[in-house]
Amino acid sequence: MKHRHLGRSGLLVSEIAYGNWITHGSQVEEDAALACVRAALDEGITTFDTADVYAGTRAEEVLGRALKGERREGLEIFTKVYWRTGPGANDSGLSRKHIMESIDGSLRRLGTEYVDLYQAHRFDHFTPLEETMEAFADVVHRGKAHYIGVSEWTAGEIRAAKPLADELKIRLVSNQPQYSMLWRVIEAEVVPASEELGLGQIVWSPLAQGVLTGKYKPGQQPPAGSRATDEKSGAGFIARWLEDDVLTAVARLEPIAAEAGLTMAQLGVAWVLQNPNVSAAIIGASRPEQVRDNVKASGVELDAGLLKAIDEILDPVVTRDPSLTSSPAKRP
Ligand SMILES: NC(=O)c1ccc[n+]([C@@H]2O[C@H](COP(=O)([O-])OP(=O)(O)OC[C@H]3O[C@@H](n4cnc5c(N)ncnc54)[C@H](OP(=O)(O)O)[C@@H]3O)[C@@H](O)[C@H]2O)c1
Repeated sequence: MKHRHLGRSGLLVSEIAYGNWITHGSQVEEDAALACVRAALDEGITTFDTADVYAGTRAEEVLGRALKGERREGLEIFTKVYWRTGPGANDSGLSRKHIMESIDGSLRRLGTEYVDLYQAHRFDHFTPLEETMEAFADVVHRGKAHYIGVSEWTAGEIRAAKPLADELKIRLVSNQPQYSMLWRVIEAEVVPASEELGLGQIVWSPLAQGVLTGKYKPGQQPPAGSRATDEKSGAGFIARWLEDDVLTAVARLEPIAAEAGLTMAQLGVAWVLQNPNVSAAIIGASRPEQVRDNVKASGVELDAGLLKAIDEILDPVVTRDPSLTSSPAKRP
């Protein structure tokens, strides 16, 4: 497993990170969750991503149990704040109150004294940015987080936050956007701004939630046990990708992956890692074999001819519109 710097910081992260959205505490049972984390550790993954909101806060507990007993210095643990975690008026958003309370809940559930990266899960249009950044600075200066990141922020929002972070002497080093062969909305604006300001991307759903593995076939029912059959939450999230034109285009990538000696999943993960502004691809998994398959994308270089062939096949179904990076107009 190769490591990369997280943006322009000294922190190294495994270029393939493991995330537990939808899976831990929800779609997959505890033993499968623990087996996936074990496989990730055995394959050299050191970076783990979660959020206070995942599975109604249970995902952090499962990850905490899975990592218990590991050498803390050998891990980079990331979590997030913003989405609603309770019934109260202040149980969401990026107010000082919610940030200060949520970090303590996350640390308790994860069973750790600090997280390596604390991320604003979305931009909060209803809290002054200064208030949010001052709260993040206190979290860092109290030793509860080492670095600060954001998720799905626009180039303009990142540009507004970076000088505040600098003034407060905290390191704003990353953005966590959706990015895959099919969803490239960060390329036009967010990536150039991030390169200029020294933020790296930690990208989510690099396999479009499993669609880029090629296991969903046009006109067919989704395979049993897949995210698309998880009525609790997964099916709702993946539905937008399960369109015949998308699935037909994805199926046409199969000979390309085979020729490169890669599985479809490896091709998908390797593709996002070709972007030098990407610090890590966060993979999800419902079983350990998937982790063992996907980690083999680390260190793979895709040549220009192969990248061009991918672009030609996918062009009609790729989303590139930068205005699709956005945060809720109302606080959740
Ligand atoms: N910041 C944000 O707003 C945000 C949003 C979403 C996610 N994230 C982060 O990104 C992480 C990854 O997201 P994701 O889970 O959507 O990523 P993904 O890697 O695109 O999809 C993972 C899912 O695809 C399927 N899969 C993966 N590898 C496979 C393989 N080799 N063969 C067959 N199926 C395979 C599995 O689902 P099944 O087996 O169930 O089909 C797996 O759970 C999350 O855990 C979270 O940390 C962040």
